Amino acid sequence: MSQFILALDQGTTSSRAIVFNHQGEQRSIAQKEFTQIFPQPGWVEHDPDEIWSSQISVANEALARINLRTRDLAAIGITNQRETVIVWDRTTGQPIHHAIVWQDRRTAADCDQLKAAGYESFFQSKTGLVIDPYFSGTKLKWLLDQVEGARAMADRGELAFGTVDSWLIWKLTDGELHLTDVTNASRTLLFNIHTQEWDEELLKILNIPRSILPEVRSSSEVYGYTAEGLFGTRIPIAGIAGDQQAASFGQASLQPGIAKNTYGTGCFIVLNTGSQPIASQHKLLTTIAWRLNDRTDYALEGSVFIAGAAVQWLRDGLGVIRHSHEVESLAQSVPDNGGVYFVPAFVGLGAPYWDSYARGAIVGLTRGSTSAHIARAALESIAHQSADVMDAMRQDAALPLAELRVDGGASSNDLLMQLQADLLGVPVVRPKVTETTALGAAYLAGLAVGYWSSVAEIAQLWQVDQRFEPRISDVQRQEWRSAWRQAVAQARHREE
Ligand code: G3P
Repeated sequence: MSQFILALDQGTTSSRAIVFNHQGEQRSIAQKEFTQIFPQPGWVEHDPDEIWSSQISVANEALARINLRTRDLAAIGITNQRETVIVWDRTTGQPIHHAIVWQDRRTAADCDQLKAAGYESFFQSKTGLVIDPYFSGTKLKWLLDQVEGARAMADRGELAFGTVDSWLIWKLTDGELHLTDVTNASRTLLFNIHTQEWDEELLKILNIPRSILPEVRSSSEVYGYTAEGLFGTRIPIAGIAGDQQAASFGQASLQPGIAKNTYGTGCFIVLNTGSQPIASQHKLLTTIAWRLNDRTDYALEGSVFIAGAAVQWLRDGLGVIRHSHEVESLAQSVPDNGGVYFVPAFVGLGAPYWDSYARGAIVGLTRGSTSAHIARAALESIAHQSADVMDAMRQDAALPLAELRVDGGASSNDLLMQLQADLLGVPVVRPKVTETTALGAAYLAGLAVGYWSSVAEIAQLWQVDQRFEPRISDVQRQEWRSAWRQAVAQARHREE
């Protein structure tokens, strides 16, 4: 049997390729950043050709680093930045426009109109999502309406739409396959997460022709093989999941009640809720975690817009640290926050607030406050915002939260992890492998080709690096949480 799995992790700012062995250990990695295009304030685009060229070059680099031949690969798994929209010509394979990235806000007015027309609960009940420019649907509509000739081509069946996974598969198979998986489909605002089909009523409202859409498949199966001539041999492409879902899988969040938090620029928190989708009463998203062997797991998801970015602001905006990692020692140089609370609502607030008008605030400053207090408050803000999402999840899901599994860059910050456990009142567990996104895609692909035999085998590969137990009393926790909520209220535009 071939010995390794190659995971392609196409993220928002870089393309990565990681080779994993049978123990789920990382054997080789290559990464390449690519161009971020900002044509207007609030608009974010990527060049689809650069997405592809960076992704294929890191794949080759990761293999070359350990002298791997492609016939040593059992399968390829794909994970990707979600919601980002690419439309291309089916005949030439040429994109008709840059990719419109998930962060892009150009369709805000269209979303306002849909909400004003009373469609919010209709979309939520079918898709599990809120109407927001974040998701693919209104972006796709924008491309069809705004790119000259696009609508007519789409009506003639000449165009293909895909999220980044679909684009990569199209390129990997030289135009043979046009498909996506349920996790990516569930972020488009066009997909019914209950029937697991593209929803005709939603397509009609957004005026999207059915013929442009990819076929929707499970997250783990052999979809096809890489095109002749791309690598030395044809390799099965056998796993696909959006990056946050893949990270949950890589964290072995395989049972209801297990949640993961990825600490990056923002935070993405996903709670496995089992085989039933749970409609949120607290503005969280209901999404498909994965579909494996005809079993679908659902999840609740909430995101925090500014997390690691708050630390970057301490570095670049305030200049109180030179490198991001210095935040931990600066914050540790004081025993507590000295009453200082920092709400980094630089771009509004995400779940459970969804307040685009909130702005950053630092409150509780006294003559004795120092940069160390602000640094501590910045770390606490990451933990508080994550706790806000998780509190909402606990209420929605009515599930006892067993533990929070963590990954992403800032999960190496021990002080932050301890603060997270304290503010949540739940143990925080950091695994040995924190490259969980790519690992999840590798697992999904490996399961499909029998490289790993079962989900149970994968659960056993997950190993703890460190466990952080809550150390403060309930009374103390409630005091800190309530002071945080008051600070949030001050940061919110429409609150007194
Ligand atoms: O929903 C957006 C998310 O999938 C992007 O993740 O890691 O590329 O920033 P990342």
